[in-house]
Amino acid sequence: MNSSNDDTTHFGYRTVGRNDKADMVHSVFDSVASRYDLMNDLMSAGLHRLWKRYTIDQAAVKPGNVVLDLAGGTGDLAREFSRKVGKDGHVILADINAAMLQQGRRRLIDAGISGNVTIARVDAQKLPFEDGTFDCIAMAFGLRNVTDKDAALASMFRALKPGGKAMILEFSEPSKAVKPAYDLYSFKVLPALGKLVAGDPDSYQYLAESIRMHPNQETLKAMMESAGFERCRFRNLAAGIVALHTGYRI
Ligand SMILES: C[S@@+](CC[C@H](N)C(=O)[O-])C[C@H]1O[C@@H](n2cnc3c(N)ncnc32)[C@H](O)[C@@H]1O
Repeated sequence: MNSSNDDTTHFGYRTVGRNDKADMVHSVFDSVASRYDLMNDLMSAGLHRLWKRYTIDQAAVKPGNVVLDLAGGTGDLAREFSRKVGKDGHVILADINAAMLQQGRRRLIDAGISGNVTIARVDAQKLPFEDGTFDCIAMAFGLRNVTDKDAALASMFRALKPGGKAMILEFSEPSKAVKPAYDLYSFKVLPALGKLVAGDPDSYQYLAESIRMHPNQETLKAMMESAGFERCRFRNLAAGIVALHTGYRI
C-alpha cells in the first residue's frame, strides 16, 4: 500500500520518489498553514470539529495521563487533551512541520493553555520517545501524508505503554451512496475553495487525491494488526468519509 516499488510512492495520484514525498508534503503544509484552520471549517462545514470531539470522547484519557497528538498540526486535539489530563498529566503536540506547529503554539496561547503541553518537531516514522511513554497516541488526518505508514504504526506501537491506546482519525472509503456527490465535491469544489481562500488549489487537489490513495477501513485495520496492535476496530463517521480506528498495545 505504501509504494508501487521500493523506490517510489504516491503523492496524490502521482508516482514520486520515496525520498521526495516528504518534501512535497512539507511544501503543502508550509503553503496552507496560515489558512489551515479556516479551510478545515469551510471544507467540512465545521464537521471536522465533531469528528475530533468524537475522537477525544473515545480516547477517554484521564487526569495524569501522558498523551501524544501526533501530526497534530495546529493542535485541535492537543488543546482538548490538555484540559482532560490536567496539571498532573502531559500532552505532546508533535508534527514534522514547523509552520503548522507555530500556528499550534499561537492557538494554545490564545486558549490560555500552558504548563502541561510541550511542542515537538518529530517524524511519525521514527518517534524520538522512549518505549512505553504514552497512555494514548492520537493521529488526526496525519497518517495519509506519511511515506512509510507501516513504520509510523510500528513507531506508535513502541511508544505506547502496555495497555495504551492508539487512535487514528483519517479520511477513508465512503459508502457507495455518497461517493458520486463526494467525488464531485472533492475534485470540483475543494480545489476551487483552496484557490479562493488559501490561494493554493494544488494543495487541495493533493488532499482529494491522497484520500483516494489512502488504505481503506479494512486495510488500515489489518496494517494496525500487523504492527502489533490488538483489539483493533474502526467506526465510520459521515458514511465512511472519515473513520476512527483504534487499537491497543496489550
Ligand atoms: C491534515 S494535517 C492534520 C493536522 C491536525 N492533526 C488536524 O487534524 O487538524 C496533517 C499534518 O501531518 C503532518 N505530517 C505529515 N507527515 C508527517 C510525519 N512524517 N510526521 C509527523 N507529522 C507529519 C503535517 O505536517 C500536517 O501538519
